[in-house]
Amino acid sequence: MKKDHITTTTKAAETIKTDLLVYFAVEKKDKMPACDAAVKPQVEKAFELNDFSGKAAEQILFYPPDPSNISAARILVLGTGPVNKEKDKGAALDMLREAGGQVAKVCASVKAKDVVICLPPPKHLSPALADPDVSAGALAEGVILGDYRFEKYKESTKKKTDYLGLDAIKFVCSDNLESIRQGVEKAKNSAFAACTARDMANEPGNHWTSADFAAYAEQLAADTGLGYRCLEKKEMEQMGMGGILAVNQGSDVPARMVILEYLPEERSETILLVGKGLTFDSGGISIKPSAGMADMKYDMCGGAAVMCAMQAVALEKPDVGVVAIVPATDNMSGSKAIHPGDIIRHYNGVTSEVINTDAEGRLILADALAWGIEYFKPTCVLDTATLTGAVIMGLGHHYTGLVSNNDALVKAVETAGNLAGEPVWRLPLNKHYEKQIESKVADIKNTGGKPAGTITAAAYLLKFVGKTPWAHLDIAGTAWDFTEKAYIPKGPSGTATRTFINLVRNWKKGNVK
Ligand code: BES
Ligand code: MN
Ligand code: ZN
Repeated sequence: MKKDHITTTTKAAETIKTDLLVYFAVEKKDKMPACDAAVKPQVEKAFELNDFSGKAAEQILFYPPDPSNISAARILVLGTGPVNKEKDKGAALDMLREAGGQVAKVCASVKAKDVVICLPPPKHLSPALADPDVSAGALAEGVILGDYRFEKYKESTKKKTDYLGLDAIKFVCSDNLESIRQGVEKAKNSAFAACTARDMANEPGNHWTSADFAAYAEQLAADTGLGYRCLEKKEMEQMGMGGILAVNQGSDVPARMVILEYLPEERSETILLVGKGLTFDSGGISIKPSAGMADMKYDMCGGAAVMCAMQAVALEKPDVGVVAIVPATDNMSGSKAIHPGDIIRHYNGVTSEVINTDAEGRLILADALAWGIEYFKPTCVLDTATLTGAVIMGLGHHYTGLVSNNDALVKAVETAGNLAGEPVWRLPLNKHYEKQIESKVADIKNTGGKPAGTITAAAYLLKFVGKTPWAHLDIAGTAWDFTEKAYIPKGPSGTATRTFINLVRNWKKGNVK
């Protein structure tokens, strides 16, 4: 879908010709759901018959009689659930986002090419959703994210009869047009950014290498005015980035460190984002079992998230500076590959014993963190990575694991994540975990044994961030197979992209130190 095909209007909804006209009905305990007067007769009847009470995803689909004063081919009344009750803003927003996702699903089932959506008035919603731009934004995000599909390599679905998703979305409101328009614009920025992150992730290992990260970033920079830079293998050798180079040794595709910079002159603070861009993780010599290995094409989801967050940053031009670094390589087992037991030297001089070549994410992040902090002197640094299978054991597919050395930054990330429908859960980090990665022959080793694998991976990263406020998001459980929601497809979720965008949007100078 093209961005400028998503529009907002105050035109009377009945007069707009469309494949599907959507109204929402907000569930109210034991009462008739709150809905637009235009569909009240239908909702009343359905409610009396006990067919419909406005529960999330409940639907009434009907067809206006011919002739009538309604121009739409179909009318949908969609239940949102009790959005009037939710006090938690994050939960309330997510119900609307899910409702948006449901709209996209109905569009797909009736093969609607365009949709007109009547926004629920704030009086139908909870005080947490009183701002019309915020509720419109959540709905819009839901529709865009829910309409996502990746069929680039499916020749058979390119046939004319098949459904290729929405061409246009129109939001109808009765007032607050300017504010709602702004809310929808922001939703477009964040939702399209997350969809782009999904696109990158869906590209398999043979179509998305370190060179593709670099090419994408270079093009984005050319289009938007962001600063672009790429450290090639030669430069990384000269700079002593022994971690990313070690991981890259078994591969024929040279590693790259890809950097996007948004550094406005008036900035007083800078946020550094680092994302694991492991374009395929075979495990290296410590090779992974073949079952499920194909999913390791998604091991670059952290890199995709930080790079795509920059897409929104470039459009929204916040006061705060933002830099994204993606250390990018695959992890292969060619004849030059690192061996278990090898000792490497990171950019900051820390030496590491590589016990397991499959614990490679921390090796590439370590150099990126140490160099990025030295070079950009950020106020804080956040990294995100599909780093450990252990986080799935601990939190399942419902929370991103969070490890940090700074409570204020944790608060900011928790808030940003909740508002995005991407919750995070903090795990502890202290000297006991740090002890688990002590090595007999080097400064540290790259695994800490079975217990607390997510935390010991973070303990490794801690050696490279020093005192800089830092938050680490382990998205191994959420980058794909994320909690089932109407706006999250099977496959990659684009998680962390919108969390980072929210973090930047809500950034308060001096809050994190
Ligand atoms: N990319 C994997 C982590 C992963 C596993 C993500 C499963 C999503 C699903 C990472 O590089 C890895 O292999 N980690 C190892 C670390 C271990 C060897 C200490 C793991 O989690 O098994
Ligand atoms: Mn691995
Ligand atoms: Zn990996």
